[in-house]
Amino acid sequence: MIDRYAVFGHPIAHSKSPQIHAAFARQTGETLSYEAILAPLDGFAASLADFMAHGGRGANVTVPFKEEAFRLAAARTPRASLAGAVNTLLLDGADITGDNTDGAGLVADLTRNLRVELAGARILLLGAGGAARGVIGPLLDAGVAHLVVANRTVDKAVALAALFDGRVSGTGFAEPDTAFDAVINATSASLAGDLPPVSRAIFSPRTLAYDMMYGRDTPFLALARECGAATADGLGMLVEQAAEAFYVWRGVRPDTAPVIAGLRA
Ligand code: ATR
Repeated sequence: MIDRYAVFGHPIAHSKSPQIHAAFARQTGETLSYEAILAPLDGFAASLADFMAHGGRGANVTVPFKEEAFRLAAARTPRASLAGAVNTLLLDGADITGDNTDGAGLVADLTRNLRVELAGARILLLGAGGAARGVIGPLLDAGVAHLVVANRTVDKAVALAALFDGRVSGTGFAEPDTAFDAVINATSASLAGDLPPVSRAIFSPRTLAYDMMYGRDTPFLALARECGAATADGLGMLVEQAAEAFYVWRGVRPDTAPVIAGLRA
C-alpha cells in the first residue's frame, strides 16, 4: 500500500497542505499520497485511529486539534514539548510521536527567504497563544538576543516569557516604543481585521513586519508599511513548516522556493 499522509483540521477545505505536499513529492520523486481530512470537533482521536489503521504514516494537525494532538502523542520531540502543541505526527503501527515544525518553518522563512539576520536580533512577538508559544524556542535557538512578547492579556505574556530564558520578557502592546529588527504578529487579530494597538515607534525602515496570517493584506502590515517597514505574510512559513514535516517523514528536504512562488502566482 502507498504511504498515506494527511492534514487533520476543522475546517479543512481551504487547506493548501495537500497541494504543497504533492509538489514536494513530485519534486523529490517520493511515492506517497497526502489528503485533507475533516475530523469532527469531538472526533479527532477516532479519525486519527482510523487513518492509522488504513496506512497512515504521518499527519499534519491544524486548528483546533494541535493541543489534543500533543496529548495523544505518547512520545514528543523536545521542540514539541516546548511548544505545548503538535502540528506533525509520525505514525508507526500503534505508536504516535508528536513534533512541531511551525517554529522551524518561521525561522527558515525569516533567514533563508527574507534574509533576516536572527543572530543578535531584537524581536517583538505579538500574541501569547499557541501560535506565539510554538515559535519562541526556535527563535532563541537561532541566536536572537532579546525577544519581547507583547499581548492584550499582559499576564499571559509574562507567564509565557517565564517558560524561557532571560532573553525573553512579557508585556502589553503599548509598552514597546523603540524599533525592532523584526515584529512578528502571532495574534489572531488579523483574522477579525483587527490591529493590536502597538506604537508606531516599533517600526523603522530596517524592521521586517511579519504577519503569520497569509492570503490577504492585514491592518498590521498596512500600518508597518506606512511606517516605512518591510513586510511579509505567513505564506513562506506555511510552506517551510510543511517542508520540515516532509523532511521528518521522508528524510528528504524539498526545495521550497518554487513551491512558494507557485502559490503566490
Ligand atoms: P493561536 O493558536 O492562534 O495562538 P490562541 O491560543 O487562542 O490562538 O491565541 C490567540 C492570541 O491572539 C492571543 O494572544 C490573544 O490575546 P489574549 O491572550 O489577550 O486573548 C490574541 N488575540 C486574539 N484576538 C485579538 C485581537 N482582536 N486583538 C489583539 N489580540 C488578539
